[in-house]
Amino acid sequence: MAIYPELKGRIAAVTGAAQGIGASTAREFAKQGTLVALLDIDEVGAQQVATEIKSTGARVMTVRTDVTDDKSVTDALAKVAAEFGGIDILVNSAGGYGKLTGVEELPIDDWDRTVTLNLRGTFLMCKRVIPYLKKSKAGRIINVSSISGRTLFGSTSPAYAASKAGVIQLTRFLAIELGPSGITSNSIAPITTLTPRVRALRSEANIEAIAAQIPLRRLPDPEDHANAMVFLASDSASYLNGVALDINGGRILM
Ligand SMILES: NC(=O)c1ccc[n+]([C@@H]2O[C@H](COP(=O)([O-])OP(=O)(O)OC[C@H]3O[C@@H](n4cnc5c(N)ncnc54)[C@H](O)[C@@H]3O)[C@@H](O)[C@H]2O)c1
Repeated sequence: MAIYPELKGRIAAVTGAAQGIGASTAREFAKQGTLVALLDIDEVGAQQVATEIKSTGARVMTVRTDVTDDKSVTDALAKVAAEFGGIDILVNSAGGYGKLTGVEELPIDDWDRTVTLNLRGTFLMCKRVIPYLKKSKAGRIINVSSISGRTLFGSTSPAYAASKAGVIQLTRFLAIELGPSGITSNSIAPITTLTPRVRALRSEANIEAIAAQIPLRRLPDPEDHANAMVFLASDSASYLNGVALDINGGRILM
């Protein structure tokens, strides 16, 4: 893992940090000496990750946050800024699937739930963090999209694919809007990733079948994405703005 000395002492808020890619990203930032706030609707899970990170000597806090709720988002960011003295980096990893069906069969409430979590949640977090990032000398927004937001690949949900495409375009909009304030906005687009949740859902044979179609012949670990996001937050990435970074082992080349 690369160490970026400038990240020591900066402040990162990570949503969806109770597990999976968000938790892994929080751990990698903590290794950089970044102060990390774990924002998740799952308070118990976030506390467990925080306890583990704290045992390494890093500064960490948790705030129960529902990213789809404006008051919850606004209050959470205010708590982070009050405790840590500001916010430099926002990572939006909270997100999720809907039903894996076609549009014709998709229940409308499933569409609403998925789009609300992935798109409204990312929008609210980005909107409410802007005043804090404007006070930072190196403000960063990093949104987690998906390969499903870049192209149609394997089985996915229409609400998931559409909302993750929306996340990429929202990120580009922010790149243009916030660039003049010295804030960069980028997204990542992961392929199916070996989080504990995905490992529990898929058989070894299914994982091997997917891996066989990837030029690198393996699925990514959450750390592959975490490393990319730490890089995007670093000064080494200060001229990257509006990028959608494909993290798919070369499976889809665009
Ligand atoms: N794992 C994959 O294969 C994969 C692939 C591509 C993209 N992604 C994207 O990466 C991100 C993380 O994926 P993951 O697999 O680590 O997810 P996960 O399901 O393991 O974790 C998601 C986290 O978000 C939290 N969350 C859910 N609703 C919330 C809400 N309303 N407010 C706050 N927190 C909420 C959950 O409690 C959980 O901790 C998601 O946006 C996902 O769409 C994942």
